[in-house]
Amino acid sequence: MAILCAMPSPVQDKNPLIPHPPLKQYYADEDHRRGFVSWLFDETACHYDWIIRAMSFGSGNWYRKKALVRAGLRENMQVLDVATGTGPVAKTASEIVGPGGQVFGLDRSINMMKEARKVVSVPFIHSDAGRLPFADNSFDFLSMGYALRHVDDLNSTFEEYFRVLKPGGTVLILELTQPESAIGRKFVKFYLRQIVPKIAYLGSRSKDAETLMTYFWDTIENCVSPDTILAAMSQSGFENPGRNRALSIFSEYTGRKPGA
Ligand SMILES: C[S@@+](CC[C@H](N)C(=O)[O-])C[C@H]1O[C@@H](n2cnc3c(N)ncnc32)[C@H](O)[C@@H]1O
Repeated sequence: MAILCAMPSPVQDKNPLIPHPPLKQYYADEDHRRGFVSWLFDETACHYDWIIRAMSFGSGNWYRKKALVRAGLRENMQVLDVATGTGPVAKTASEIVGPGGQVFGLDRSINMMKEARKVVSVPFIHSDAGRLPFADNSFDFLSMGYALRHVDDLNSTFEEYFRVLKPGGTVLILELTQPESAIGRKFVKFYLRQIVPKIAYLGSRSKDAETLMTYFWDTIENCVSPDTILAAMSQSGFENPGRNRALSIFSEYTGRKPGA
């Protein structure tokens, strides 16, 4: 399946709510963050799947499926998987919706979607979470796996998600959040910031893959709070946005577009 290119600039809010402050050890300022993130995922696309599998001891796809079903994904739905990456959420979603449904994968990295094409046959669109090339009220379900920390602006991103969902449609955002307890934070930080980047380097001999995984933790550690994310969802119009926590670091944010 071809990758369709539709790469408009994201809508810019006058007061953007950025997911984390600029991380100057990686890029100079907020204006350079976008280019850095695109470069990082393009460079490391061929390593992403095995690193994530190793890091989560192979449980990642099992968990993604549980979360999609918990949020209400079912047969025959129209789904947009934003920041689809190498396609793990899109693949699982297309198994759930079956032949009567349809899944679209969208990402800013062409190389990540080239990897996705090897595992799932759905239409892929090269675009940005902040500017979705779809008409209003197009989807029953919108998913985003582990990429909210990389968007330019939480407010305009949620406004776009709200716009393309049909009345009654559901958004599901999978994210990683620091554990609440100090000991939990210490343990998870040691594993994700010290061990995982080394495994990524040893398995790939790629410094960029190591950087991908140090950046991974640094964005989690510096991300705005779950309450700020829920408030932004609510401000964009989502009804009763909620957060389900699993294993102390997995957050599932859900919201419903009113109507229907
Ligand atoms: C950590 S990967 C997640 C991939 C997949 N969703 C998963 O569950 O494993 C993050 C993906 O988000 C994409 N991404 C980052 N910022 C984006 C944006 N603003 N719009 C669309 N995709 C974006 C990256 O290119 C990358 O493929």
